[in-house]
Amino acid sequence: MSELSTNHLLGIKYLNLEDIELIFKTADQFKEVINRPIKKVPSLRDITIANLFFENSTRTKLSFELAEKRLSADIINFSAASSSVKKGETLIDTVNNILSMKVDMVVMRHPNAGAGVFLSQHVNASIINAGDGAHEHPTQALLDCYSIKQKYGDIKGLNVVIVGDILHSRVALSNIFALQKLGANVKVCGPATLLPKHIESLGVGIESNLIKALEWCDVANMLRVQNERMNMSFFPSTREYVLQYGLNKKILNALPKKITIMHPGPINRGVEITSDVADSKQSIILEQVENGVAIRMAAIYLLAAKIKHE
Ligand code: CP
Repeated sequence: MSELSTNHLLGIKYLNLEDIELIFKTADQFKEVINRPIKKVPSLRDITIANLFFENSTRTKLSFELAEKRLSADIINFSAASSSVKKGETLIDTVNNILSMKVDMVVMRHPNAGAGVFLSQHVNASIINAGDGAHEHPTQALLDCYSIKQKYGDIKGLNVVIVGDILHSRVALSNIFALQKLGANVKVCGPATLLPKHIESLGVGIESNLIKALEWCDVANMLRVQNERMNMSFFPSTREYVLQYGLNKKILNALPKKITIMHPGPINRGVEITSDVADSKQSIILEQVENGVAIRMAAIYLLAAKIKHE
């Protein structure tokens, strides 16, 4: 297969296994490009991309921007905090105004689940979801799975546990979809209050005990507690959370095998993981960030190819 089955990247849910494999194969080529002295290719000189961030971001925003620049696309950046959204402009009006400046592709982060899908149904541009509320964060899951593949060669049959605030996490949902499509066994681990009801219906196991979960897994993806999405208390105190679900070096060293530690960032050092775990040889957190640029270059490049061919 040489092209994606979809014109947008709205969620892992909408990709098939061939799409994911094509993105990985394309990312392999771009990874080689970004490690050359001249880290740029002229592939997208005729494409203009708008990065619309209605919610804060460090990694995703910078990674998309760098990926677009490495592909030689023209880019415009929009941040809700300094825009006319503050004066009451709707999402569709905002985006249509931007598109009338002849923009081909929109990368959007938005606090509302489904914002990317909604946009794709109302505007004439290719949409990439850079995180929509607690729904999906497809490029994060792609870079996470790509990083696991880079470490183990194959994802099929690996045991992966996602630990922490699953309820508010778009990273968790996208990772569950991606890991399962790639043949991994997935468990979630966290306080019962931070696990969505009916999570088992997605085919994942539940393990409430962190030590048991870590003893089972090859890879642990440690998620941040998303206090900004909570309007009530989901556990007694941060100290209580750390005691039950925080990963420290003593726990890591006592495990029967060397597992791989991942984190999508931003890290709350000393809460979900201690610094000595985050910075340990078993952590691939910075490889995840590095791979993010190649994965985003691949996704943008493959979607842009579909714009040109229409
Ligand atoms: N992983 C991630 O989405 O981080 P940012 O919120 O900094 O983009």
